[in-house]
Amino acid sequence: MRQTLVMGNWKLNGSKTMVAELINALKAPAAETTNVAVAVCPPVLFLGQAQALLTDSVIALGAQDADIHTQGAFTGENSPAMYPEFGVHYVLVGHSERRTLHGESDAMVAAKFSAVQQAGLVPVLCIGETLEQFEKGETQTVVERQLHEVIAHSGIEALANAVIAYEPVWAIGTGKTATPEIAQGVHAAIRGFLAEQNANVAAGIQILYGGSVKGASAAGLFAMEDIDGALVGGAALQADEFAAIIRAGA
Ligand code: G3H
Repeated sequence: MRQTLVMGNWKLNGSKTMVAELINALKAPAAETTNVAVAVCPPVLFLGQAQALLTDSVIALGAQDADIHTQGAFTGENSPAMYPEFGVHYVLVGHSERRTLHGESDAMVAAKFSAVQQAGLVPVLCIGETLEQFEKGETQTVVERQLHEVIAHSGIEALANAVIAYEPVWAIGTGKTATPEIAQGVHAAIRGFLAEQNANVAAGIQILYGGSVKGASAAGLFAMEDIDGALVGGAALQADEFAAIIRAGA
């Protein structure tokens, strides 16, 4: 039985005031149900503040990225080994914005996945196809290639302690959510691909959907057998909308 996980990725948004207001507003909805685990991923500058605000909360903390190195002369980077001190539990790896805007290759994403696990954290591996790839019918090929690189690097067993987020790039920030049926088809195929290598890992792993999820669309997505939650961008910045997504999973 996989628990539903609703994770907010705040991307490059926030201020000290906004972090305090949003986290305080989410504490009650997150505590309403044990059926849904809730996490937020603020910008790294606000992790310390978020940690302090979350000491009495069930909301888990995530980071949006990590370097492959733990320390050294890597100006501007954030070490996965430093995150535990800030209460971080999850780290996004391979978000499409990192892949496209920062040139992260499948190999780089696989190295980050491994570095995050070695720091004792749970990687949230983001995969998904572009609009062009979707229109050419290449979705399955693309997500399998993205998964294969991680499996080749870390082994299939490593996915027993990870989360997958399927995010079609054409649905991110566009207002176009994949229909529950389209998303379910891809999620089932991802689980099937993993099952060919390890049935237990495939059955246990949480596969989140991401891409313009809103309070109104969440319930339909969560009703699908292989959709285990959501990675939410824009709607995660609005307390009422994010609370509605949490409640949709209860
Ligand atoms: O990480 C979250 C995804 O990129 C989804 O963002 O909900 O704004 O489409 P969005």
